[in-house]
Amino acid sequence: MAATLTLETTAYTLDQLLALSDAQIALAGRSNVGKSSLINALAGRKKLAKVSATPGKTRSVNFYRVEPQHFYLVDLPGYGYARASHEERRNWAKLLEHYLSDCKTLKALALLLDCRLPPQKIDLELASFARACRLPLLPVLTKTDKCKQRERALRQREWHDLLAVRPLLTSSSSRLGMEELWRALIEIAVPGIADADSAPATSE
Ligand code: GTP
Ligand code: MG
Repeated sequence: MAATLTLETTAYTLDQLLALSDAQIALAGRSNVGKSSLINALAGRKKLAKVSATPGKTRSVNFYRVEPQHFYLVDLPGYGYARASHEERRNWAKLLEHYLSDCKTLKALALLLDCRLPPQKIDLELASFARACRLPLLPVLTKTDKCKQRERALRQREWHDLLAVRPLLTSSSSRLGMEELWRALIEIAVPGIADADSAPATSE
């Protein structure tokens, strides 16, 4: 299932977020969890999204267009960034809440979770908020290359128990799970497209 990603827009205000008419799937997670790296790994490019070892790198909301399936992946700034000011955090929380609750074309929230950490309260709060907005969740464990098999399985089980959805295991470094993640994203954004692709042609 081939797809290409290109950066289309960078948004700083809520109006910009809500204006797009094509389907969107947002990537959210703690600062440094690997959102931008995952965009690059999905794109098969190294420098499409800016990556940094310093948390708080992505400050704007970046829209990546997915073609030929016609939808957007939205790279959100990370939350839980310790050095952000109180006001910055409040503004960010407000923007995120409005986006999740008011964006009509938002199809799901891909919630990125660091495979090395036990479930964190801040991630669970966002998951609950998304659920309250009736937004489907796609939990994605990141940085699995840093974890042993046993830890991966444990994390998957813990999150499955909490969210009632089994998280995908991914690594932007080793590319583990990229195909599966693409399939899941495309199926959410354009339901049935995979079946349509593989369906035999009918003659009239
Ligand atoms: P913010 O923009 O600050 O919210 O961060 P982010 O979630 O976009 O994280 P980013 O992709 O910038 O990655 C943060 C750090 O984690 C960088 O040093 C990446 O190289 C590293 N990283 C991301 N994904 C992986 C991965 O799959 N494996 C490993 N080993 N490191 C990763
Ligand atoms: Mg980022």
